[in-house]
Amino acid sequence: MRQKSVTPSSPSERLVKNIRRATRRHHSAEEKIRIVLEGLRQPLDKWMSPVTRQILESTFKQSVATLAKAEPNAFADNPNAKAYLAGNFKIGAAPPSADQVVYGPTRTLNAVEKKQYALGKEVFHRDAHCATCHQSNGAGVAGIYPPLNVANNPWLAEDERLIKVVLKGLWGPLELGGQRFGPKNGVPPMLGLGGMITDEEAAGVISYVRQSFGNNLPPVSTEQVAKVRAKTEKRSDFYMVEEILKEHPIPGWEKWGKMARPAGDIYE
Ligand code: HEC
Repeated sequence: MRQKSVTPSSPSERLVKNIRRATRRHHSAEEKIRIVLEGLRQPLDKWMSPVTRQILESTFKQSVATLAKAEPNAFADNPNAKAYLAGNFKIGAAPPSADQVVYGPTRTLNAVEKKQYALGKEVFHRDAHCATCHQSNGAGVAGIYPPLNVANNPWLAEDERLIKVVLKGLWGPLELGGQRFGPKNGVPPMLGLGGMITDEEAAGVISYVRQSFGNNLPPVSTEQVAKVRAKTEKRSDFYMVEEILKEHPIPGWEKWGKMARPAGDIYE
């Protein structure tokens, strides 16, 4: 089979191409360094970090020091490269942990609300709770896990529907932020977390989501969660999208397309 020519798309591919080109054309050490430092504009992946470090910190170490001294303001438009020359940028440093990144709160909270927010943040990041699928930054995963960070997300707006989703889970076609989600993409249901979290924790995690990632909605209370939990006590199953939206409609949802529940499947 004939191989398709591939246009380098990722920063790493571009960097590799540039390094090769630089070597082929017998550039000076300084020119090579400049090309490699250009690559710091984009985050480096785990493959590119070691190579980049080797070039800058071993192969051309001396020339890097010379460049840093001669032109301390080189790369004024490339903050990472500039910081690197100034000794303030570590190549291959781990990305900031969930705790180091601040996604909220988006509103001023009183002391009680702050406590609830902190609890919610902790629950959100527990293993296999929310961040595992919806990601620490709430952006979800394209076409697989829907985002929690899109403006005016109707799923976050209504208390009872949102509590039901968190306690019992959700499955079915839905559109959000211009993307489609649901079983058609081969994605299993979001399973309810009701069995794993207390009413207080559920209220906390919901309030955390509502006040992070650019969302700015009021908190829900432990009492509200307790009421919905009691009301849905007999239900062991997740909600189908179509079913929950009949109880708590989102304008335009009928257009999302219906998907019958597979009979006798593993989710019974
Ligand atoms: C195992 C992965 C997984 C976990 C864990 C998970 N979700 Fe979900 N969530 C999904 C999927 C998948 C959907 C969409 C289901 C569908 O359309 O079939 C969804 C849908 C949603 C929705 C509605 C759509 C949207 O993005 O606004 C909300 C709100 C939500 N989840 C919040 C949460 C919260 C809060 C937690 C933690 C308490 C959580 N989820 C845990 C996978 C997960």
